[in-house]
Amino acid sequence: MTSEDLAELMRTRRAVRKFEDRAVPDELVTEILEAARWAPSPANLQPARFIWVRDAGLKHQLQDLAGESKELSAYWDPIFRPDGKSGLVNDLIRPTVIAVCSDPAKSLTNVHADNGFEWAAAMSIYAMWLRAQSLGLGAVFVQHWITEKAKRILNVPLRWTFLGTFTCGYAVESPTGTRLPREELVSIDRFPGPAHP
Ligand SMILES: Cc1cc2nc3c(=O)[nH]c(=O)nc-3n(C[C@H](O)[C@H](O)[C@H](O)COP(=O)(O)O)c2cc1C
Repeated sequence: MTSEDLAELMRTRRAVRKFEDRAVPDELVTEILEAARWAPSPANLQPARFIWVRDAGLKHQLQDLAGESKELSAYWDPIFRPDGKSGLVNDLIRPTVIAVCSDPAKSLTNVHADNGFEWAAAMSIYAMWLRAQSLGLGAVFVQHWITEKAKRILNVPLRWTFLGTFTCGYAVESPTGTRLPREELVSIDRFPGPAHP
């Protein structure tokens, strides 16, 4: 792979939410989990853990909870209603499901932050997302969970943080992407504009 290929992969990675009813071969899932394993973490503490949810019964429980989670959010924000912009309940049945959790005890306490365990997990999620794309799979990370209920389904200790689920599979949609222009995202030397607007 050339550096241009990598740039292209990063540019064309999208959130894919509709999947064929076709299992991803175990070898590919293992490759994706390897990408997670090699992600960076503060002081290499490796706080994140990955649960490959293979059991159909557990997947159905997660599917029900995904619906319940959206329904709860819709109480506050109508975009999560079934007819809203973000009303689609994510598919937990067809794709491969990898739940991501992380251990708050495996964090450095430094002067400004003790949330490195979440950053580490996030980096592993992006690594899996890109690796899945490179293997010809579509993927999405889903953060939208009533987390304590998800933890109960998957036997995650209460004090751990449940980041969400990474799902990947054979895409049946090709979403397009947009981003803000670079000038709006990047400034040179100092934050742009007045500090007290
Ligand atoms: C931290 C995080 C949480 C996300 N949570 C959800 C989610 O709960 N459900 C979902 O369908 N997509 C979720 N996404 C996917 C985003 O909606 C998607 O990445 C974004 O709209 C940009 O689209 P693109 O990835 O196709 O460029 C999440 C993405 C991130 C990074």
